[in-house]
Amino acid sequence: MTIRPATATDAQQIVAIYNHGIAERQATFETRPRTPDEVVDWLDARGPFLVAADGDTILGFARVSAYSTREAYAGVGEHTVYVSSDARGRSVGSTLLNALADAAEQAGYHKLTSRVFATNTASRALHHKTGFTEVGIQRRHAKLDGRWVDTVLVERLLGEARDYDSAL
Ligand SMILES: CC(C)(COP(=O)(O)OP(=O)(O)OC[C@H]1O[C@@H](n2cnc3c(N)ncnc32)[C@H](O)[C@@H]1OP(=O)(O)O)[C@@H](O)C(=O)NCCC(=O)NCCS
Repeated sequence: MTIRPATATDAQQIVAIYNHGIAERQATFETRPRTPDEVVDWLDARGPFLVAADGDTILGFARVSAYSTREAYAGVGEHTVYVSSDARGRSVGSTLLNALADAAEQAGYHKLTSRVFATNTASRALHHKTGFTEVGIQRRHAKLDGRWVDTVLVERLLGEARDYDSAL
């Protein structure tokens, strides 16, 4: 398995993995399937966008998007990670997420954060394994298919923010 930056030629496989994740209803409030062109647009975002590949096969992807337009939060990135259903449970997700954190730190981010559905056992285990902290539960954060969903806020400090306490 290789971890490398995503390219436009990966878009078809990435969108298939993402749309499968949408259909499963455990990872995101999004319900509209995306197109490969929309994935190509993600390549223009500031944050890192990585894939795990086995030869020509994309096993999963992880990316950082903007958390906020406020300047003070420029170092906070919102991350996502999706692994193809065939490739789950083989450390693809944890390898991708650790690589994403390293790439985000190198790009100047001081924190990655995301909201995980409280019922998403796999994602909560993945985040625990990769050094994220669950900092709170957002109750009834939004509705999916007409039902309220609780989300768990996770975060991982990077670089200067991670090292701040020990510097005191
Ligand atoms: C969440 C997801 C990315 C995990 O990817 P993965 O490649 O299967 O994860 P890994 O193999 O690296 O496993 C990481 C840890 O999670 C645990 N884990 C993985 N799937 C699990 C499951 N279904 N139930 C319980 N624990 C699970 C693993 O055991 C491992 O912990 P361990 O090493 O202590 O045993 C994958 O299940 C997925 O793509 N799900 C759909 C999309 C999604 O939910 N994305 C996250 C949005 S917040």
